[in-house]
Amino acid sequence: RMRRWQVESRPEIDTFTPGLLALYESLKPSEEHKSKQNQLVDSLTKSVSKEWPDAQLHLYGSCANSFGTSHSDVDVCLEMETGTESTAEALLKLADVLRSDNFDNVEAITSARVPIVRMSDPASGFSCDICINNLFAVANTKLLKDYAQIDQRLLQLAFLVKHWAKLRGVNETYRGTLSSYAYVLMCINFLQLREPKILPCLQAMEQTFTMNVDGTECAYFDEVHHLQDFGADNKESIAELLWAFFHYWAFDHDYRRDVISVRMGNTISKQEKNWTTRVGNDRHLMCIEDPFETGHDLGRVVDRQTLRILREEFERAAGVLQYNDDPCVTLFEPYD
Ligand code: GTP
Ligand code: MG
Repeated sequence: RMRRWQVESRPEIDTFTPGLLALYESLKPSEEHKSKQNQLVDSLTKSVSKEWPDAQLHLYGSCANSFGTSHSDVDVCLEMETGTESTAEALLKLADVLRSDNFDNVEAITSARVPIVRMSDPASGFSCDICINNLFAVANTKLLKDYAQIDQRLLQLAFLVKHWAKLRGVNETYRGTLSSYAYVLMCINFLQLREPKILPCLQAMEQTFTMNVDGTECAYFDEVHHLQDFGADNKESIAELLWAFFHYWAFDHDYRRDVISVRMGNTISKQEKNWTTRVGNDRHLMCIEDPFETGHDLGRVVDRQTLRILREEFERAAGVLQYNDDPCVTLFEPYD
């Protein structure tokens, strides 16, 4: 399984760190971007409170978990009493309200796993997804944000991986590849598995934060300011880590047997979760456990063909970082 001759990165790998860090800096959202985002939230709050005065607006996803780039959409969760109304009915009503307040391209998508209203904001041009009472997303947003504060290499790695995935066309769940959220979980789990560890397992520590969502306790250690030096014994540079990340997913991860689990800070077996693949069944080929909705496999969208595509892309990326003369350019060459 492991190609022994390949497990060492090239001796000069660190020379690529400055280039990768410069790219990371260029991907971070600007102050202007953030202020436009806040304006969108303000105008949305006004619209919503006319119909639902007690509704609370939460930002989730990459605009709140600190993994957002200037290209990220804005994800909003409304927490509100829907009374006798179903979520779908409330979303349809919300779509009407937003249309009459002149938001563009308003569309209620009620058949999705998480039903949403999608629209775009004419002032900023941002696209925005709004869901109702999906507090798991609010909880996992905080978890990701807290992990990001422990070691800056997580944000750096995740931004580069997300950027790579978008350019290489492997960040499209509707086509059987992975969501941004799945890639961030892969990065967290990868840093939990380094020797010495770069990230701890917050859900295995003393519970200082807890939030009950539909009967499930979402609990973990959130006093991350106590963990500022956690990864200090590990001196790996971002170039080494990026190479090792792709190498892990190309050659080391056991796709047949294992599930990656940020919740356990480790891999666990598919057997243990009953996520086994039967003949002719394309589910659970690549398994990524959601940290709080533990029955939810973020890899469920991957089928045999897209798994092959993903593994070829991981292998290409590892190879580029290992052998290419100008890896910072070649790695991110758009696939078309
Ligand atoms: P970008 O918008 O690509 O920058 O990243 P994002 O983190 O906002 O990802 P995305 O818009 O795909 O998802 C928004 C959020 O929905 C995630 O951050 C999670 O909090 C939440 N979420 C929960 N379950 C899922 C899931 O199965 N798929 C996706 N995509 N998101 C989920
Ligand atoms: Mg998003």
